[in-house]
Amino acid sequence: MFYLRSRIFFGEDALSALKDLEASRVAIFTDDFLQKNGVADRIASMIPQASQIRVFAEIRPDPPVDMIAKALEFLLETDTDTVIALGGGSSIDAAKATVLMYEQRVGRDVKLVAIPTTSGTGSEVTRVAVVTDPEEGKKYPLFSEALLPNAAILAGDLTVSVPPAVTAHTGFDVITHALEAYVSINANDFTDAFAEKALELAFTYLPIAYQEGENLRAREKMQTASCLAGMAFNDAGLGVNHGIAHALGAVFHLPHGMANAMLLYHVMQYNAELDTPRYSGEPNRVCNRLARIARFIHHPAFTKQQGARNLLAEIKRLTAEMKIPQTLGEAGISRADYEAQREHIVESALLDACTATNPRKVDAEAIRTILRGIERF
Ligand SMILES: [Fe+2]
Repeated sequence: MFYLRSRIFFGEDALSALKDLEASRVAIFTDDFLQKNGVADRIASMIPQASQIRVFAEIRPDPPVDMIAKALEFLLETDTDTVIALGGGSSIDAAKATVLMYEQRVGRDVKLVAIPTTSGTGSEVTRVAVVTDPEEGKKYPLFSEALLPNAAILAGDLTVSVPPAVTAHTGFDVITHALEAYVSINANDFTDAFAEKALELAFTYLPIAYQEGENLRAREKMQTASCLAGMAFNDAGLGVNHGIAHALGAVFHLPHGMANAMLLYHVMQYNAELDTPRYSGEPNRVCNRLARIARFIHHPAFTKQQGARNLLAEIKRLTAEMKIPQTLGEAGISRADYEAQREHIVESALLDACTATNPRKVDAEAIRTILRGIERF
């Protein structure tokens, strides 16, 4: 079974969808930055039909559980019927988790409209929200159909001021979502279609969005790629790349997309068994799939193994071009800090829900092998 719930508005005047929104008491969930630079007010001015618009601008990265509790109080006080999640993945995830709890408390449905201001998480179309318990140093992904936003508005112009480094990190989150969904044990024809298009768009437009931040076409295409990748992994799931990235991020507070980008080459090499003697034998399913993507992005080869290696080389080239760290040392982590946490990271990655849909079986030793690829200080 495959189904879609969210209405998706895209293109130049995507934000005009707000004028037709049936909403009375609106809460905008966003962060301090988007409130101070006037974007939250701009969005509010596009909903003249609302009788009340209140802004909750206290969303912090990696939304912690105590902040969600505060956001819930805010919704209860304002008797909200529509929530607009404006921001990156943290704002959207926080809004999703809070709305779910609010609906349970008040016993009625609340409209949730997601307006991403970075192109990365795909959270606007997924049934997942990640919340963090800072005391435990753990991230908890919540899964529920009720977390799916009712509408997503993909406005490329909201992302033109995203700095190059954040563009690179979030863009690699998109590529990792699409690639992990594409090789997942739960991939199907529908998720493949979304993943393939997401990868074609991201490999084409991410370098342009990184080099020319003001390029509206590249920004719009990355918004689309992010959303398509979200639809792919919403159904197909992810893999051990996200399992390890969540574990690393919770301990060292690395940007999520950056952690994914650092790991992607090594995880896919492991998944495609390009690191074993099998390299000279029959290519496995992941290898075949990576080779197919290499063809889409114009790096074909005579053999499947070489095709897969071409894709991995392109991933490495692109991360270097966009100055993404290749090692834990380059990411600012010391050997001592890492070694003190390594086994905790291995354990957390094994238990992470994303790891369950990885195409090649993963045990603690496999995670240590993948991590060795980025262990230079
Ligand atoms: Fe991600």
